[in-house]
Amino acid sequence: MRELTATVLENKRIAEEIYSLTFACEEAVPVRAGQFAMVGVDGFPLRRPIAVCKAEGERITLCYRLKGEGTRRLAASCSRGEKLSVLLPLGNGFFVAGHEKKVAVVGGGVGIFPLVSVIREYAESKEIYAYMGFRNRAAICMEYEMRRGKELVISTDDGSAGCRGTAVQALMENIGRVKPDVILSCGPVPMLRALKNAVAGRNIPTYVSLEERMGCGIGACLVCVCEQTNGAHARVCKDGPVFEIGEVKI
Ligand SMILES: Cc1cc2nc3c(=O)[nH]c(=O)nc-3n(C[C@H](O)[C@H](O)[C@H](O)COP(=O)(O)OP(=O)(O)OC[C@H]3O[C@@H](n4cnc5c(N)ncnc54)[C@H](O)[C@@H]3O)c2cc1C
Ligand code: FES
Repeated sequence: MRELTATVLENKRIAEEIYSLTFACEEAVPVRAGQFAMVGVDGFPLRRPIAVCKAEGERITLCYRLKGEGTRRLAASCSRGEKLSVLLPLGNGFFVAGHEKKVAVVGGGVGIFPLVSVIREYAESKEIYAYMGFRNRAAICMEYEMRRGKELVISTDDGSAGCRGTAVQALMENIGRVKPDVILSCGPVPMLRALKNAVAGRNIPTYVSLEERMGCGIGACLVCVCEQTNGAHARVCKDGPVFEIGEVKI
């Protein structure tokens, strides 16, 4: 992990309440799919955790939804040429084993962003089947990136684009045909719970990236601790954010 001063190249709205922030670091930063950054926001003591969507040498792109004051400030005040204080890369990220050929990615809401980095990293070497859920048509973004895999099914809660329903429902409608070797997921807790129930007993390795509240992002403050099924506790920022689905209580 490095503490970097990055220069903002672009910070633009790409969908309803969603912004894409691209910045240049002083040097190339090796980032694995599913790792995240802690981004400093002017006037806020705590940095905000945001998944890396694209890493191209020293050029990094993150996408974020307007949620509270920090992300709203980022959208309003962070423009080209400005300096950003960033910790990068953080967390373990997603890992696909050599023998796992068919990879299903299941994303909901801002959980699609770390999965875009999975698609980018593995589109050439694996068969990627993507099931991505959005609130509605206006929230859909990064479609070009999501189409790099073998298959993309978009779903919306209100049916305004793609299939009506959730990404987990879309996965389950296709799982018998696709027969994925591994499932990688990120999204809101109810979605991850639905996924856990849906894949129970199917013997498909399934990994989820958790989005806990964070303070430091580097394992020191314990704000992000989650409960494991064996009774132990794990720091989402340092031991995760990616865990085997049976390993954590969700
Ligand atoms: C590993 C990881 C990756 C993430 N990737 C993305 C992403 O790619 N795109 C995206 O839009 N969002 C992502 N999030 C969620 C994002 O961090 C929060 O939406 C953001 O921190 C909210 O900040 P705020 O100041 O606008 O909101 P506020 O609610 O005002 O934030 C107050 C405090 O709570 C923390 N906080 C609030 N919600 C969350 C949350 N869900 N997760 C973690 N900390 C939170 C903030 O960092 C801040 O310290 C990710 C979270 C984690 C843990
Ligand atoms: S956020 Fe501080 S230990 Fe994880």
